[in-house]
Amino acid sequence: MIPPPLSSRDRILALLRCHADGWLSGEKISTELQLSRAAIWKQINSLRALGLAIEARHAKGYRLLEIPDLLFNSDVAGELDCRIVARSLDILQVVDSTNLQLKAQAEAGAAEGAVLVADQQLAGKGRLGRQWASPAGVNLYCSILLRPQIPVQQAPQLTFLSAVAVVDVLETVGKVKAEVKWPNDILVGGAKIAGLLNEMSAETEQINYVVLGIGINLNMTADQFPPELNYPATSVLLETGQLVDRRVFLRALLERLDFYYVEFLEQGFASIRQRWEQRCPIINRRVSVDAGPVGTVVGLEVDGALRLQFDAGTIERIVAGDVRLVN
Ligand code: BTN
Repeated sequence: MIPPPLSSRDRILALLRCHADGWLSGEKISTELQLSRAAIWKQINSLRALGLAIEARHAKGYRLLEIPDLLFNSDVAGELDCRIVARSLDILQVVDSTNLQLKAQAEAGAAEGAVLVADQQLAGKGRLGRQWASPAGVNLYCSILLRPQIPVQQAPQLTFLSAVAVVDVLETVGKVKAEVKWPNDILVGGAKIAGLLNEMSAETEQINYVVLGIGINLNMTADQFPPELNYPATSVLLETGQLVDRRVFLRALLERLDFYYVEFLEQGFASIRQRWEQRCPIINRRVSVDAGPVGTVVGLEVDGALRLQFDAGTIERIVAGDVRLVN
């Protein structure tokens, strides 16, 4: 895939990173990027405003003093192995909510595959009107714009698709074994490590767009979770004691999402459903729904409803509710 174009700021940062062991002259930047000295100086100052320590010396040029854990397009965009996802990629330092911003872009006609990532969210949205804690510098907050030509009722299948991709990358990059909890929580040892908020705009029969919103707790420490959180939560750091490189994680996540989305468009929901069921500990187990009826979970319906079989043999569709294992 052709990588999305980088801003002047990110191209300068990429050059500085390549020359992190020494000085990079203004002349070299100017020649390589076709930028005036004044434009370079402006971008250097905007990088400094983001917290990067850049030394400037007359007759020597610029030098990166330390590489902070900030997310930049230049770290992620190059040579992604993607066909649809990340056709355009924007990484912002602060937004209210990546879902809100990407929905606005979708309304304005943004193309399928657009990805918006933020280092920090000031109004991160969770499900059921909750907030999603989104401190700077530690986690991943990203939204992906899709425009699948599928019946509206099948849109929930994309939630299962994103859940499978997140669980995979938590395992391969994060080195934690996560599970899916119907309908769309991602847990490690019963504590929530990631959340999915997929939002759709549709006419009666046709999907305009779906925004897949994904929040993953990577390097968050215990004191960064809001005290009012009323469910157990965790992060990769808390589970493994290891910091995760957010750039590596994000690249792997975008590639995995793309792989599953292309497979979904070409072959339908069957293999996503199978993968989700493999990652779901309640399949073939007895559960209660909202502390009420008890039955055995026998799988997922095509619209994402849970299939619950009662002892008498009847199967019921569960479309919402709190599902818990019973002994
Ligand atoms: C949940 O409550 O489980 C869903 C949380 C979803 C959070 C992500 S972070 C990126 C995207 N932007 C948002 O405002 N929310 C989602």
